[in-house]
Amino acid sequence: MAYETLIVDINDHIALIRLNRPDALNALNSALMRELADALTAADRNDKVRCIVLTGSEKAFAAGADIKEMADKSFVDVFEADLFTPETEALLRVRKPIIAAVSGYCLGGGCELAMMCDFIIASDTAKFGQPEINLGVVAGIGGTQRLTRFVGKSKAMDMHLTGRFMDAEEAERSGLVSRIVPAKKLMDEAMAAAAKVAEKSTLTAKVVKESVNRSYETTLREGLLFERRMFHALFATEDQKEGMAAFLEKREAQFRDR
Ligand code: HXC
Repeated sequence: MAYETLIVDINDHIALIRLNRPDALNALNSALMRELADALTAADRNDKVRCIVLTGSEKAFAAGADIKEMADKSFVDVFEADLFTPETEALLRVRKPIIAAVSGYCLGGGCELAMMCDFIIASDTAKFGQPEINLGVVAGIGGTQRLTRFVGKSKAMDMHLTGRFMDAEEAERSGLVSRIVPAKKLMDEAMAAAAKVAEKSTLTAKVVKESVNRSYETTLREGLLFERRMFHALFATEDQKEGMAAFLEKREAQFRDR
């Protein structure tokens, strides 16, 4: 499907989704969010896709929700639309791994979007921030909750209250991003990481995703029980037999997601 605000390429089992509103630093407007939800859902359903990479441009992953589109809205407008909730719920329903490849500005809703992905690879030029306070609002799609879980209360408060930006080094040090790479190598590294993920059993990768995400949503005791039962359950799969046999036979595993 052709999109107005996204460029989607599917090659070698990887769906690369690029936010594409260059004139607005990829600001998230309704059209972009609708298309993004559609593209992610389609990639999740596409049997050829084993991993998704979400990225922006070198200058901006996304500079936040579109301020021009939001400026004149009333409480009732945003309440009735439940602004961006259906779209972000579609993203959160995606069961295949999503890697965010972030370069340049990653602000407000852009930072929130990156945090909804499974992990973030940042270029050394990346700048993260939750500057909504400068606009007289707060984050609206998870920024106060997720950033706090990533970097802890003190840094999250600092970011949300002062609106300052965090550079890539600070973001890595604080646990917001998994790795930093030189800007020129960002897409190569992100695609290489996605290729690594795509080599694995996608069935097992979905279980990894569900299990790690549980740690944010439940008690340690419940999370450990969930993990243990999933570990047990995977012994019912062909991929467990194949993975362990391949190790013992000193060969590469051929996973079939069965
Ligand atoms: C709409 C935006 C935009 C945004 C940038 N642009 N950010 N348009 N919404 N969030 C547009 C500018 O208006 C400008 O268009 C063009 O992109 C280039 O931006 P400049 O400001 O000229 O670039 P620069 O001087 O390099 O500054 C970059 C910047 C700045 C620091 C990123 O643009 C900025 O502060 N942007 C806003 C960041 C922000 O507050 N984000 C949070 C939004 S609220 P023109 O047409 O003038 O050339 C949010 C809430 C989410 O995200 C909750 C959702 C439910």
